[in-house]
Amino acid sequence: MVTYVTPVRHIEQIIEAARLLPVVVLNDADDAAPLGEALLEGGLRCVEVTFRTAAAAAAIRTLAKQSELLVGAGTVLTADQVDQAVDAGARFVVTPGFGPAVVRRCQELDVPVFPGVASATEIMMALDAGVHTVKFFPAEQLGGAAMVKALAAPFRSVRFIPTGGVTTDNLASYLALPAVLAVGGTWMVAPDLLAGRRWDEVRERTRAAVAAVASLRKDR
Ligand code: 3PG
Repeated sequence: MVTYVTPVRHIEQIIEAARLLPVVVLNDADDAAPLGEALLEGGLRCVEVTFRTAAAAAAIRTLAKQSELLVGAGTVLTADQVDQAVDAGARFVVTPGFGPAVVRRCQELDVPVFPGVASATEIMMALDAGVHTVKFFPAEQLGGAAMVKALAAPFRSVRFIPTGGVTTDNLASYLALPAVLAVGGTWMVAPDLLAGRRWDEVRERTRAAVAAVASLRKDR
């Protein structure tokens, strides 16, 4: 198996620089190449490909060949999927909840893992496992930025990637919080756009999100 040993910090820096992590559900691995192009043209260089479809590993393999892109695997539920993802070229792993076996396997392979958390207890489980950057999921449904702010207060070392219900219209509330590394979601790469192979629309939604993030930087 090919493993990519990349310091966690480096991967996080790339995601933090973008402040956006598109979450992709691809049904056809042949769509991976045009999707990667659309994201790059839209101004983003990181992407999470979810293991919700059988096309995930092949799609990661294609996207990983695009050297400008940082490709990770999402919705990773088992240690076996960690192996498949890393073998395909995934350079980080995201999970919807805290799964000790998945986290352990990522750590064995030196692959950064961002487990999902929804509560203070789950954050403490992540910290016990040595993980300080977590996905907060599903963000909007759990109370949005106010909930992230409340959870961040006791956990000073924790960085969050809120995901679930995030859009260009509400990302500012999350990104205003120092504890938020980036926001994730499917809105730039929505399933209907992928189904219709509407790469121009993917590029435009990505551009709009990137522009929204850039305008926040100016406001600071
Ligand atoms: C995820 O897996 O991270 C979420 O399903 C993304 O949620 P969204 O579709 O609301 O962006």
